Amino acid sequence: MSNQAKLELDGKTYVLPTLTGSENEKAVDISALRANTGYITIDDGYGNTGSCTSNITFIDGDQGILRYRGIPIEELAEKSNFVETAFLIIYGELPTRAQLKWFSDLFTANQYLHEDMTYHFQGFPSGAHPMAILSAMINAASCYDEDLMHWQWGKNQQFDIYVARLLSQVRTIAAYSYRKSKGLPPIYPKQSYKYTANLLHMMFSNPYEDFELKPEVVKALDLIFLLHADHEQNCSTSTVRMVASSQANLFASCAAGVCALWGPLHGGANQAVIEMLQQIHKEGDDGSKFITAAKDRNSGKKLMGFGHRVYKNYDPRAKIIKKACDEVLLKLNINDPLLDIAKRLEEAALKDPYFVERKLYPNVDFYSGIIMRAIGIPVEMFTVMFAIGRMPGWIANYKEIMEEPKSRIYRPRQIYTGHTLNHYVPLEDRK
Ligand code: ACO
Repeated sequence: MSNQAKLELDGKTYVLPTLTGSENEKAVDISALRANTGYITIDDGYGNTGSCTSNITFIDGDQGILRYRGIPIEELAEKSNFVETAFLIIYGELPTRAQLKWFSDLFTANQYLHEDMTYHFQGFPSGAHPMAILSAMINAASCYDEDLMHWQWGKNQQFDIYVARLLSQVRTIAAYSYRKSKGLPPIYPKQSYKYTANLLHMMFSNPYEDFELKPEVVKALDLIFLLHADHEQNCSTSTVRMVASSQANLFASCAAGVCALWGPLHGGANQAVIEMLQQIHKEGDDGSKFITAAKDRNSGKKLMGFGHRVYKNYDPRAKIIKKACDEVLLKLNINDPLLDIAKRLEEAALKDPYFVERKLYPNVDFYSGIIMRAIGIPVEMFTVMFAIGRMPGWIANYKEIMEEPKSRIYRPRQIYTGHTLNHYVPLEDRK
């Protein structure tokens, strides 16, 4: 069977090479199309465009499969934790015991921010969104290191230290940004606490008393991080790769990822889900009015936490998190009216032809919002939690670009639809 594609254009036939991935995913290679034919391809929203080849994460959206470095998300969710999974995603293999200790020790050694950064935090108005603070402060953190500021991949820097610093400090910055938004003084990280426990400590302890770390709460948040750790070429990861392709430094590239993640159609959806449920609750709707509105394009409403560009069967992360959500609510003895509304919405949508025909299923954000609310994470911090979780994926994609000898700057083309040649008219002659 031929593994070449044939394209007929303007009476000529062009042969295009194809390539096949390790999971049998197929692509037509159009990299020489414009040079050979004068045509480019148009693909609004990149729904059919492969921007790279990658070894990190495999998704089969039709079958609901997600694997990091070949390992199913279900296995990692059950047996691993966020830090170990971060190592897997970034370095390509599960760590040995010694590697895991080395990695964790590097986190501890790099968790403190430069003390001068507290002045930057002070400059934000209280009430500033923590995602804005997070992105700005990740970028600012790079100014405290000569190597990062004068970044040249492969020269001088010890990449492993920057990996650990970013993963560790994103958590410190996240906690500080929350406390800043509440007008509270910062709490320093504790050497003896593990990754996720330390974040909760820095967010919720006070200078006189440590926050009570309930094991089920720590476990649930760690699971949320793990489930978000990578998701191949989504909006924020593509943004990180785009910025990285210009050889920008690791911190600048990942700060851009935070901005892309903030929007409600991406990471901001977990916050939007809770806000939607609160609105439904406030209006005394049982969910049916909202569903009717979400089906009407002109209403400006969408069923937040439903639908996915890639998953057209179910989101495997949603399945895992739904189970975890039920368990945590039971253990913490929480009765949440928003959860009842969420369940009713889900039930109704899964039976509704509008959602069924469009293959719109609950995505990970539908439940992650509910679980985070249950364990006491403030709603404005939901997307920050997603950003902490996604950091290993952004770093791994950054590393992949840097290690690719043939990598080029990302620079899509366009089809211009504006004025044809036009001329400058002096101000006094304009009507
Ligand atoms: N509620 C109502 N209708 C929807 C929804 C929704 N949540 N999602 C998609 N649709 C409709 C669209 O209006 C469109 O209808 P049409 O065929 O009549 O034109 C059809 O379903 C296809 O939707 P698209 O917008 O083309 O799907 P796309 O792949 O571009 O968008 C997205 C995917 C952004 C996730 C979308 O489903 C959405 O906005 N969902 C709500 C926000 C959300 O939950 N985002 C989180 C994504 S997961 C993540 O980032 C971790």
